[in-house]
Amino acid sequence: MTNLIDGKIIAASLRADVTEAVNTLKSAYNYAPTLAVVLVGDDPASQVYVRSKHKFTKEAGMGSLEHQLPEDVSEQTLIDLIKNLNGDDSVDGILVQLPLPGRIDTDRVIGVIDPAKDVDGLTEISAGRLSLGRGGLRPCTPEGCVILAKSALADGDSLSGKHCVIVGRSILVGKPAAFLFLEQNCTVTIAHSRTKNLADICRSADILVAAVGRPLMIKGDWIKKGAIVIDVGINRVAIDQHNKHDNPKAKRKTKLVGDVDFAAAVKHAAAITPVPGGVGPMTIACLLRNTVLAACARRNMTMPDKL
Ligand code: GUN
Repeated sequence: MTNLIDGKIIAASLRADVTEAVNTLKSAYNYAPTLAVVLVGDDPASQVYVRSKHKFTKEAGMGSLEHQLPEDVSEQTLIDLIKNLNGDDSVDGILVQLPLPGRIDTDRVIGVIDPAKDVDGLTEISAGRLSLGRGGLRPCTPEGCVILAKSALADGDSLSGKHCVIVGRSILVGKPAAFLFLEQNCTVTIAHSRTKNLADICRSADILVAAVGRPLMIKGDWIKKGAIVIDVGINRVAIDQHNKHDNPKAKRKTKLVGDVDFAAAVKHAAAITPVPGGVGPMTIACLLRNTVLAACARRNMTMPDKL
């Protein structure tokens, strides 16, 4: 029987640990960490993410600042805001919601974030520390993937020595995920949309992380019997409607699907994340944890045990 990896439950448990840690910091230091989120423009998906981040940050007992800037904001105004947040001692974590409008130089903007407040783990310092195997703030989605993969192991088993194939090479997920699974002593292969023999490489994976952003690209028979499948893709696709020709003006219905053909993959995998409700909720939970980690490191507070 395939085990469904419930990201909602695992994320709720991590958020509960974060809430407990925040309460400990309040008691010990009379201090609650604060996260600042910067959103440019009105992309509906980004607005949904930012609203959730705000809600869960408040629920964990932390401060939450939201800076919404118009789509046509200048790059310099955005950079000046980040510099202000860097200099604001009451801000422990800074997240710039991606993607930014195409005319803005994303690397330049991310590069301005103080690495001590880089709760997204995207600055060159954070990425460098990760690649060198040194401590620091880790990108949230890949960190969530590792937690979910570990949760699916049999009692007493570990990720050590397992072959982890990551399909996707983005700076947000694929590349940092490779280093994080390497830290767990996995043997790691990074594949991508141009990899030759992609199906065969996927078939050799004990842990398969799909992060290419192509709906249903990973087929059921690409999955080794007994593999753990972590699907990072969140793709909105139209639902085929039998009567769509009867009423062409009817609003097309859509649904979210992952990068993995879930219905076929469940027949092969030992455990698999659903979309939605798999990796997605973990990203925010890991972001909250990073905000507490950043606050403790910056303020010389002892890190509460739970985290
Ligand atoms: N957009 C989608 N996922 C993320 C994320 O993890 N961090 C940021 N900054 N933007 C995103």
